[in-house]
Formats: sequence, C-alpha cells, structure tokens
Amino acid sequence: MSKTSNENSRRSFITNLTKGVVGASMIPAIVTAKDRQRNLEGLIREGQKFSANDQLQIALIGAGGMGTADTNTAITVPGIKLVAVCDLYDGRLADAKKKWGNDISTTRDYKQILERKDIDAVIIATPDHWHKDISVAAMNSGKSVYCEKPMVHDITEGPAVIAARDKNKVVMQVGSQGLSSLGNEKAKQLLKDGAIGKLNYAEGFWARMSPTGAWQYPIPADASPQTVGWDTFVANTNKRPFDATRFFRWRNYRDYGTGVSGDLFVHLFSSLHFVTGSLGPNKIMATGGLRYWKDGREVPDVMLGMFDYPETQVHPAFNLSLRVNFVDGTGGTNYLRMVGSEGSMTVEWDKVTLYRNSEHIDENDPLAKSNAAANGGKEYVYDRKSMSLVPPEKTEYAAAAGYKGAHFDHFYNWSNAIRNKGTVVEDPVFGYHAAAPALLCNDSYFNNKIMQWDPVNLKVINNKA
Ligand SMILES: NC(=O)c1ccc[n+]([C@@H]2O[C@H](COP(=O)([O-])OP(=O)(O)OC[C@H]3O[C@@H](n4cnc5c(N)ncnc54)[C@H](O)[C@@H]3O)[C@@H](O)[C@H]2O)c1
Repeated sequence: MSKTSNENSRRSFITNLTKGVVGASMIPAIVTAKDRQRNLEGLIREGQKFSANDQLQIALIGAGGMGTADTNTAITVPGIKLVAVCDLYDGRLADAKKKWGNDISTTRDYKQILERKDIDAVIIATPDHWHKDISVAAMNSGKSVYCEKPMVHDITEGPAVIAARDKNKVVMQVGSQGLSSLGNEKAKQLLKDGAIGKLNYAEGFWARMSPTGAWQYPIPADASPQTVGWDTFVANTNKRPFDATRFFRWRNYRDYGTGVSGDLFVHLFSSLHFVTGSLGPNKIMATGGLRYWKDGREVPDVMLGMFDYPETQVHPAFNLSLRVNFVDGTGGTNYLRMVGSEGSMTVEWDKVTLYRNSEHIDENDPLAKSNAAANGGKEYVYDRKSMSLVPPEKTEYAAAAGYKGAHFDHFYNWSNAIRNKGTVVEDPVFGYHAAAPALLCNDSYFNNKIMQWDPVNLKVINNKA
C-alpha cells in the first residue's frame, strides 16, 4: 500500500511531540498568525472599484430563516451593502424593509434582481429546488453567488452549476459555513500532523426533538394565493394547487427539499472533505424510517448513512457513519468525530478536542511484530505489574476571544474573492462533491439500493444494483 500524506506526517507529529514542539502549540488557543492576518487584512484594496459607491452591492433571494441570518452576517463584512431583497411571500418582503431599511427595493421576481447592473452579487437562500436555476441564471447575468447548501436538489444538476461558474468567470461560494471555521482548520492541521495516527473511521450525528427542529414551522395566518407567489414556487417542479403547508414546510416534501441528508449530512460531508482533503466516498448506503413526525411528510425523520472512502494520495481508506434522529429524547446535539490508530478528535466550529491514547499499537514495535508472526517469532512478554488504567490524553483547542465565527469568515472569504478575483474555500466543485453523497443517500433510501459513486469524475457508476 502506498503511503498517504496522513501516514507520512504521523512521524513528524510524534517527533515534534517528543521534542516539545507540538506541546508549544497545545495551548488552548487556535488562532494562528495566518488566521490573524486573514481576519485583520484590509478588504478594500486601493484603486479597486465595484459599484457606483465603491460598495460590494448585494441582493438576497429567499428571505426566510437562513437568508436573514446570511444577510445579517454578510452586512457586517466591511464594504458589503444590501440593496435589494426578493421573496415569494409578501410578509417576508415587508419584514425585510423593517429589518434592513425602507431604501432597499423588494420584489417577488428574482429576474428583476438579476437585470440590475448595480448589483454585484446575490445570496441565494431559497428552498433547495431553486438553487440550481437561480445560481445559473445569476452567474449568466454576471453576478457572483453565495448559494446555500445543498448546492443542488438533484444529483444531475451539479455540472450545470459548475459550467456556469466556469463560463462566466464569477465567484460562487456554497454555504456550508462550518468549513471556514477555525475548528475545521485546526482539525485539518492536526490530522495532517498525525495527531490521531492513521485515519480509519469518522462519524457524525444530529439529534433533535422539537416541532421546529423537525421542520414543523409556523404557517403565517395571512398565507394565501394572494400573499404567496405559489405559481413561481412550483414553476420548475410538479404543479399542484396552492398549499401553504408545502410552501412553509417545504423541507418535508421531495419536490422542494432534500430530506435530512441534504439538509444536515451535507454539512458533515463539507467539513469532513475539508479536513481530510477527500473528494468523497465511492459507496453510499442509507436506511431509516418515518418514526414519529407523521404529518404527511415524504421523508424519514431517522436516517443512518454508511459510506466507504477509498484510499487516495491524501488519505487512507476509511469508513464514515452518519446519523440524524429527529425523535431523540436526549434533545439537541450534534458532532463530527474522527478516529485514527492513535486517538480521535471531535471537531466543532470553535473547538477541537483531541484524545490520544497513551497506549497504542506501534506498527514498528519489534515485539508487536513478533507477536503477530504466528509460532516462529519471539514470545510476547506480559508485564502485569506495570499495567494500569490510564486516561487518554485530552487536549482542547478553543477559539480565542474575539473570534467572529465561521459564518463571518465564510462571507469574508467570499467577499475577498470577488474583490481580488481570487478563489473561495467552497466553490461549486467542492459544493458538488459534498452534495452528491448526501443526495445519493436519498437515492439509496428510496430505491433500496447501494449507490456506487465515482468521486473523481463525479459520476454515478452503478444505478442498477
Ligand atoms: N448553512 C446553514 O447552516 C443553513 C441553515 C438553514 C438553512 N439553510 C439552507 O438555506 C435555504 C433556505 O432555508 P430556510 O430555512 O431559510 O427556509 P425558509 O423557508 O425559512 O426560507 C426560504 C425562503 O425562500 C422563499 N422562496 C421560495 N422560493 C423562492 C423563489 N423561487 N424566489 C425567491 N424566494 C423564494 C420563501 O418564501 C422563503 O421566505 C435552504 O436551502 C437550506 O438548506 C442553510
């Protein structure tokens, strides 16, 4: 087996540990000089003009929960100004003016936003089934895009988004903001340095137990065909008569949402791929069921996914297990944990907790080797007296005070890339690599199939098995 960089670098982590080099970086603060430079770096470079008033002028398309959160964060990045909002529900347009001022313009028609020359970029935070169409149209109008995750609603839609970005040479960032976090950055460094040895397994979990957590959102009292642009909402999917429940609780229906895997697994894929440098799994299996929230929804409220990651130049082969449980009596929690031959780490956006076993199998230990060689080798010497129960070494890395968080950094990264014609951390190629296995979970679950995926060429390779 060829040596992956994870394996090679393990030695350097151990060597550094012995020399005390790593010890120095084990203080519970993870802001590196590079991070600091990135956070403090001025945004507006001399001589660069964007819009009439030298702002990066943006519009929001889809002004619900996440669109509002995205916009509130985006406008804290110096130089970004919100000038217009588009939504299909009049109540949200009225709220937008209350939140962001009467001088922003509002419309139900995203095409009106795309026609405006004074808008440089758009945030797309509509339900999933509109991501591809609006992203492609926006980029074809020369706008840069920040599109919420999952990048696409269906596995077949990824290439069109990538092609539109390539053709128009604009910037597109996908919104799994966690991968811009200091926590993800630190985990990437620790894995590369061999802190958990050789990666063999990762797991992620989302637990919830509340109506809103399980997507039973309130339906506004004034919801009607007059206040909602229903015909537009269903214009690119199955046509149905007006249905306020489908409109406001869109996540529960397959025409608009992508189930728990598209909604939540995708965040874990994004972070995992960022930390490991992986392009994705080649085998995808999902199971689960609708156990509790039987409100007419079409998607499961418990889902388990299992994924095989093949060995690549940058990581060894490993397995991934993901779970979502919306009927979890323990309440809400979520995590991403990575396990290696010498320890494990839990990865949060502003914290990484590293556990290293004081006792681990060293492949190069001559005793272990002789023990493994049946009969012929030296006998294993068992020293019972020196045995004791030892706790794993636990090291917590926490973000320093003043850290603005992953969401800010993700928008900062986007805005910098637009201004400097640079690259973003989660471009459409990355976004598709993360969305694809999440979407294939639905194909596996609904069709009762194991899905084979080619993560290098981004192709489903066996849809019949
Ligand atoms: N990154 C994250 O952490 C995160 C968190 C939550 C949601 N999201 C993503 O954000 C997106 C929106 O989710 P949400 O929870 O905000 O949903 P939401 O229902 O609160 O908001 C969606 C809004 O889009 C509007 N809309 C629907 N179709 C439209 C269209 N064609 N044109 C313009 N507006 C349209 C709706 O009226 C609604 O106001 C989803 O893709 C979701 O996956 C991401």
